[in-house]
Amino acid sequence: MGKLFICDHPLIQHKLTFIRDEKTNTKDFRELVDEVATLMAYEITREIKLEEVTIRTPVSDAKCKIISGRMLGLVPILRAGLGMVDGILQLIPGAKVGHVGLYRDPETLLPVEYYVKLPTDVQERELIVIDPMLATGGSAIMAIDALKKRGCAQIKLMCLIAAPEGVKAVQEAHPEIDIYVAAVDDYLNDHGYIIPGLGDAGDRLFGTK
Ligand code: URA
Repeated sequence: MGKLFICDHPLIQHKLTFIRDEKTNTKDFRELVDEVATLMAYEITREIKLEEVTIRTPVSDAKCKIISGRMLGLVPILRAGLGMVDGILQLIPGAKVGHVGLYRDPETLLPVEYYVKLPTDVQERELIVIDPMLATGGSAIMAIDALKKRGCAQIKLMCLIAAPEGVKAVQEAHPEIDIYVAAVDDYLNDHGYIIPGLGDAGDRLFGTK
């Protein structure tokens, strides 16, 4: 079973409180999401492989470590996932970025894939699927399905806030996936909102409410 990693660093938790607050305006919300994404990227890359290299300092040779060849890819789920991309790129500027677009069918309420554009070497990359809110888990499951269908095997999921229902659904559908979140909230309400959550992440990021 993949792990559920709660990024409980005090800076992340502090910023998350202001992200949740309904009084936080769009500009601040966007900046805070960006900052939390950077801090979460620090956690998600903790187990990245290093290799030894020998360099020369001004006074001697030194055996040092650098990140080994493994390449990363970010895959935000449109549109709210976009809000976390720049923050992660601050720490991992070499990562390539693919996109998965899903919409919710108004009749079945199930996610439907409408856009997938990935780096050409995506199968060789370790991928981080990004969506701020893990609610029912339907979108994350479908995005991971879309990547697996295209031959990707190394996939992690990064979200700001998860509902327990969403965590369970992803773990059932994709048991090997590690999930990184800043918080697991109480429950999903009848309208599919995470409680207490932060409202609609896309609307708050893009000021569309
Ligand atoms: N998507 C959101 O943006 N917010 C929720 O609470 C659930 C899904």
